[in-house]
Amino acid sequence: MASLLEVQGLGVRFSGLKALDDVSFRLEAGQVRAVIGPNGAGKTTLFNAISGYVRPTTGSVLLNGVEIARNSPHHIAEKGLRRTFQNGGLFPALTVLENVMTGLHPQTGGSFIDILLGRRKAIEAEIEARERARELLKLMSMDHMAETPAGDLSGGQQRIVEIVRTVACEPPVLLLDEPAVGLSPVARQQMMDIIKRLSGEKGVGILLIEHAVELVMAAADRILVMAAGVRIAEGTPEEIRSDKAVLEAYLGHG
Ligand SMILES: Nc1ncnc2c1ncn2[C@@H]1O[C@H](COP(=O)(O)OP(=O)(O)OP(=O)(O)O)[C@@H](O)[C@H]1O
Ligand SMILES: [Mg+2]
Repeated sequence: MASLLEVQGLGVRFSGLKALDDVSFRLEAGQVRAVIGPNGAGKTTLFNAISGYVRPTTGSVLLNGVEIARNSPHHIAEKGLRRTFQNGGLFPALTVLENVMTGLHPQTGGSFIDILLGRRKAIEAEIEARERARELLKLMSMDHMAETPAGDLSGGQQRIVEIVRTVACEPPVLLLDEPAVGLSPVARQQMMDIIKRLSGEKGVGILLIEHAVELVMAAADRILVMAAGVRIAEGTPEEIRSDKAVLEAYLGHG
C-alpha cells in the first residue's frame, strides 16, 4: 500500500545554491515525523517544495500514491495537505472564531450575497461552520477566546489558533513549521500535547519542524536530520540520540 506521503529525491536549487538536495522519506497516517537541523539547513524549503510554494528542481512528492509535486499550493491544500507558516498569518482584526471559520471548506460557508439575500441554505451553512469552529476551539481549550480579535491574543495563543484553523477541514497531512517557537515552557508542552492528540486521536500524519531537541525527542515517532540541504540521518528518537553524524553536525552545538 502507498504511504500517506512519500517524498522521493526532492531537490531545490536557488540560482547557485542547492537549498535541498535529494531528500527522501515517508510519512504514515498517525505518525509524527520531526525535521531538525541548524538554521539554513533547508527545512522550510523542504516544506515549501512539498506544499507547492517553491517549485522543486528534482524529485517527486506522492500523496496517497498520487503525484502532487509542482501542483499549485491551492491544489495541494485541496487534496488534503495543509501547512502553517514560520511567521504565522492570522487576520488580526477578525475574531478567533472567524479566523477558524476561514479554514473550513468554502462549501460550508455561504457567500456574503447569499447571506444578505437571506438564502436559507447559505444561512444554515454559516451556522454549521460557526458551530464546527466553536467545537474545534473547545477541543483545544481556546473556546473562551472565541470572540476576541486574533490580534489581541498572545503569540502562543495565536499559534494555537493558527493550528486550529489549519486542521479545521480535517486534512490527512499537516506540516507545522516551528509551531512552538517563542512559547513559554507550559505553552510549548500544550502545543506538543495538541500535536500528539491530532496524530493519536485523529490519525493525522504530521511533519514538524522544531529546534528544541527535548520536545522533538518526546513528540516524534521518527526524525529526519538535515544540514546544508541534505539528509544526514533518519530514525527513531533513540537512534538519532546516539547517531554520530548528528552529534557532530547538530546536537554537539546545542
Ligand atoms: N526563496 C529563496 N531564494 C533564495 N534562497 C533561499 C530562498 N529560500 C531559502 N533560501 C536559502 O535556502 C537555504 C535554506 O533555507 P531554509 O529557510 O529552508 O532553512 P531552514 O532550515 O528552514 O532554517 P531556519 O531554521 O533558520 O528556519 C538558506 O541558505 C536560505 O538562504
Ligand atoms: Mg525555517
